[in-house]
Amino acid sequence: AIKRKTAPDLRARKNGEPIVMLTSYHAHTAALVDRHCDAILVGDSLGNVMHGFETTVPVTLDMMILQGRAVMRGSQAALVVVDMPFGSYEGSKEQAFQSAVRIMKETLCGAVKLEGGARMAETVAFLSERGIPVMGHIGLTPQSINTLGSFRAQGREEENWAPIENDARAIAEAGAFSIVVEAVAEPLARKITQSIAVPTIGIGASAACDGQVLVLEDMLGLSPRAPKFVRRYGNLGPMIEEAIAGYARDVKSRAFPGPEHVYGMKKS
Ligand code: KIV
Ligand code: NA
Repeated sequence: AIKRKTAPDLRARKNGEPIVMLTSYHAHTAALVDRHCDAILVGDSLGNVMHGFETTVPVTLDMMILQGRAVMRGSQAALVVVDMPFGSYEGSKEQAFQSAVRIMKETLCGAVKLEGGARMAETVAFLSERGIPVMGHIGLTPQSINTLGSFRAQGREEENWAPIENDARAIAEAGAFSIVVEAVAEPLARKITQSIAVPTIGIGASAACDGQVLVLEDMLGLSPRAPKFVRRYGNLGPMIEEAIAGYARDVKSRAFPGPEHVYGMKKS
C-alpha cells in the first residue's frame, strides 16, 4: 500500500516546493486528483456544487462525513482534509472536538479544516493538542456570509491589514499545520506568508503563498459561475452538455443502442 501524505509532511513544505491542493467530494474525481496533488480538500463548497445551496451555511456534518468517506475510498496518496461545517465547531472547543472526532473516526481522513482567525485559536490548540491536525482558513470565510453581507476580497486597504495578520499569527501559533488564505490582496498574502512558520495555501491570494487550492468544478469549467481568482483549466460544462445532447438525439432516432450494445440469445 502507498503511504499517504500526512499533516506534518505538508507542514514541512514551508518555503519548499509549492503545495498543490484541489477539492473533491467524490470517489472518481478523488482518484484523478490523487495522482497530481499533495492534498485533497473535501470542502463544504460541496453545498454549492453538489446540492445547489447559495451558501455553505446549510451544510451538515453528515454530508461532510459521507463525502469524506467517498474521497478516502477513491484516493490513496494525498492527505485528505475534511471541512468542519457551519455550526459544528463554533459553540465551544468541546463541541469542535466532538465534531472533529466524528469526522476522523468515520472518514479516517488525515486532518480537518475550520474557518476563523484569533477567535478560533483556543479551539485550534485544543484539537491539535488532542491528536487532530487542523488546517486554518482566514481572510474571506464564506460560512460568515450572513454577518459579512457579501463575498468580498479582504485587505485591499492597508488600514485593514492588522486584524487579518493577527488572525494568521494566532491560528499558526495555536498549532494549525497550514492555513488557507482566501481572497486576500496580494501584498498582504505575501506579508502573512513571510511572517508565519506554517505554509499558507492560497485561493485568490496570489502565487506568494506556499501552495494553492481551487474548487475542482470551478477550474474544470463545470460551475456556471466562478470567482475572479479561478483559472479555467478545462471547459467541461459545454463538453458534458454536448454529450448529453448527442445521447438524446440518438435515443430519439433509435441510433442508440446499436448492435454492439445488445444481448443476443445464448445457443441452446
Ligand atoms: O470549501 C471549500 O472548497 C474551501 C476552499 C475554497 C478553500 O474551503
Ligand atoms: Na470550505
